[in-house]
Amino acid sequence: MQLKFSISIAYFKFSARNKPITSNITFAPLMTLDEEIAKRRTFAIISHPDAGKTTLTEKFLLFGGAIQTAGAVKSNKIKKAATSDFMDIERQRGISVATSVMTFEYNDKIINLLDTPGHKDFAEDTYRTLTAVDSVILVIDCVKGVEAQTEKLMEVCRMRDAPVIIFINKMDREGQNPFDLLDELELKLNIKVRPLSWPISIGQSFKGVYNLYEKSLNIFNPSQTKLTDDIVSISSLNDESLDDYIAPYTNQLREDVSLIEGVYDAFDHKAYLAGKLAPVFFGSAVNNFGVRELLNAFTSIAPPPIPRGTDLREVKPEEKPFTGFVFKIHANLDPRHRDRIAFVRVCSGKFERNKFYTHTRLLKELRFSSPASFMASAKNIIDEAFPGDVIGLYDSGNFKIGDTLTEGEHIHYKGIPSFSPEIFKELVNTDPMKTKQLDKGIRQLTDEGVAQLFTQQPGNRKIVGTVGELQFEVIQYRLQNEYGASCSWRPLQLHKACWVTADDKTELQEFVRLRGQQICLDKDDHFVYMAETRYMLDTLMQNHPHVKFHFTSEFKKDILK
Ligand code: G4P
Repeated sequence: MQLKFSISIAYFKFSARNKPITSNITFAPLMTLDEEIAKRRTFAIISHPDAGKTTLTEKFLLFGGAIQTAGAVKSNKIKKAATSDFMDIERQRGISVATSVMTFEYNDKIINLLDTPGHKDFAEDTYRTLTAVDSVILVIDCVKGVEAQTEKLMEVCRMRDAPVIIFINKMDREGQNPFDLLDELELKLNIKVRPLSWPISIGQSFKGVYNLYEKSLNIFNPSQTKLTDDIVSISSLNDESLDDYIAPYTNQLREDVSLIEGVYDAFDHKAYLAGKLAPVFFGSAVNNFGVRELLNAFTSIAPPPIPRGTDLREVKPEEKPFTGFVFKIHANLDPRHRDRIAFVRVCSGKFERNKFYTHTRLLKELRFSSPASFMASAKNIIDEAFPGDVIGLYDSGNFKIGDTLTEGEHIHYKGIPSFSPEIFKELVNTDPMKTKQLDKGIRQLTDEGVAQLFTQQPGNRKIVGTVGELQFEVIQYRLQNEYGASCSWRPLQLHKACWVTADDKTELQEFVRLRGQQICLDKDDHFVYMAETRYMLDTLMQNHPHVKFHFTSEFKKDILK
């Protein structure tokens, strides 16, 4: 995972220091906008750490021809060549702090895979990445089943009705009974499932999977290098030759399949696209098993770029004018250049290099001379990009997460909320000579989405909220290394941060006046009530029925209460 991120970093560095190489992200320049859109699939792989996300990602890249050898993603050689300075902390920790983007071609589709950090302390980062994709592949470890992080991630997917394909991995291990696993998925993830392949035994005696869709057998042959599947077409499960491949599990398979056909409805593509039904595949990523089957299914059923909501209207990808939004920012990729990269998801129209676009929050016209793509090849500066693509824009401090770019229309993309953090600490300046640097550093890091900053007035007291302890270490380290500012943390006992609004402005003002000690401003100067306990929060909610308490900054679907 680290390397994949580093690949992107390395490209950015490369382009910053070398003359830009101009290439085109499109593979057939004469295609119409509609054809470009139809070709694209933009998705993320999500999982609880260790379920096999990195391995599956690597196999996808391998099948897509974006890397040449299995194991390359983790090989030390590449790791050393591509490490970036600010990722020191990640190296020390052995976890991936950031999100990367990988583009490859498969089955005549251009696939944009947005990687997400597996560590729970960086869950916010993952949530935001999910706002930039059109669908998701969820990886489950067949031994462990549904884990804590899986449930949270699925909650976010469901909030957005993102279509989800489930890949049950590690079938070469002694895992749970597949029927029990399916029940657990439905129960804990609150989504209907439909197996499209079915395992024949499991663990040491794992024989392969039966493809319920194509009615073929995929015979398991453990190998970490072999890239072809042993597919056997069978006309009927009553075929006696079945024994040659899967004995003594032939009858078991027949019984399982008849049970599946009896219990589950036929696969409903529309329900999948609406995020109501998740097709399930089984395999073993490390053995390249079931991966091609998964990719084939993905390219045939996953949605192309979909319309997206703004504050004023829904924007369709095929609309001619370009629009897009920033879902991620990386600052200080190279400490010598102080550059920032804003990751923009293209939502409609055609993005063109060197053309002026409107930054709708600042009402500023901006032009980008070296937008980067994330093709896994040496070429990285692009001339144009289409809906579904992710482009990296060099930024001198104009962007915040959620910012929208358009060809002049004053709209703002929705769906990039901040959630209430879980851990709060006060930022204490330990070097008064570096106050300016500290202020700038914490502002920029929180713009990047590393954590949320709440400021209390008067006094400019800064409270930082995160979803994990690790974040505080990252911030402290980066403030020191990138801004020369030192700080310490004072833990605060807070239950939640709630954004507060009211239809009647005077009601809100009165509430803010009364609760002055517990009111902060977020990065966009919205009022936030810092609840000390759940009891206090419940009491206040009862006492102020006209004040609305929101658990995400977007004030819409408050799922993470
Ligand atoms: P993550 O990104 O979701 O955190 O998981 P990752 O791919 O790093 O996989 C976690 C571990 O599970 C790795 O082993 C990986 O090799 C192993 N794994 C992945 N897919 C399969 C599978 O289908 N079967 C089996 N048996 N194992 C699988 P590791 O020992 O942590 O790392 P490594 O030394 O193998 O690289």
